[in-house]
Amino acid sequence: MWPANSNVKCPPDSAEAATSTEKASHLCVLETERLVLRRMTTDDAEFILKLVNEPSFIRFIGDKGVRNHADAVQYIQTGPVASYQRFGFGLYLVELKESRVPIGMCGLVKRDSLPDVDVGFTFLPAFWSKGYAFEAAVAVKAYGTNVLGIGRLVAITNPDNESSIKLLEKIGLRFERMIRLSEDASEIKLFASDV
Ligand SMILES: CC(C)(COP(=O)(O)OP(=O)(O)OC[C@H]1O[C@@H](n2cnc3c(N)ncnc32)[C@H](O)[C@@H]1OP(=O)(O)O)[C@@H](O)C(=O)NCCC(=O)NCCS
Repeated sequence: MWPANSNVKCPPDSAEAATSTEKASHLCVLETERLVLRRMTTDDAEFILKLVNEPSFIRFIGDKGVRNHADAVQYIQTGPVASYQRFGFGLYLVELKESRVPIGMCGLVKRDSLPDVDVGFTFLPAFWSKGYAFEAAVAVKAYGTNVLGIGRLVAITNPDNESSIKLLEKIGLRFERMIRLSEDASEIKLFASDV
């Protein structure tokens, strides 16, 4: 029933969980060699407050206006959690498997402004250059393709985001064209899995 994909070891999260260990396994979506990707809850607000206020996040993804704990709770509820409910996927929290330390977000996003589902990722700078983003993004891409059956996956990035472009190419996405998410927005690069 659950695909024999080495990146997908977590059970589907359906039942109510009682203990924190049960809860963690209940929320788990993907497991890789070094990482666990799990659904976010409002308990992750402090980490999200830090992550979305990193200068690199604001520069390359944008200012989400998350200034305090309550803003972070709202961001989680209206962003990732709403996406899980609406689409069955979303941005997941990435944790180190051994310590369960949260290090970033990676997952799938369906935006009103794009016809396709895109792969997204952001990590705290302390966890860059260790291959964690690559490991998470490979697993998410395989999950989107093999488990969710999404035929065409895309990704968007600023033209000057070299780290992101390098990572997208490493996971097998190819530059397709420049796009704008809205009429007054800057041009960004669209990468796709089926170019
Ligand atoms: C984009 C982002 C996630 C890339 O993170 P990253 O850590 O550079 O990406 P990777 O996981 O692919 O790591 C690559 C580096 O780890 C090194 N590495 C070390 N151990 C590794 C391993 N076991 N496996 C693979 N790479 C490894 C690679 O050699 C590579 O080094 P290099 O950059 O010097 O060539 C990160 O820069 C980020 O969070 N940026 C801010 C948010 C953002 O821009 N998001 C994207 C919006 S479109």
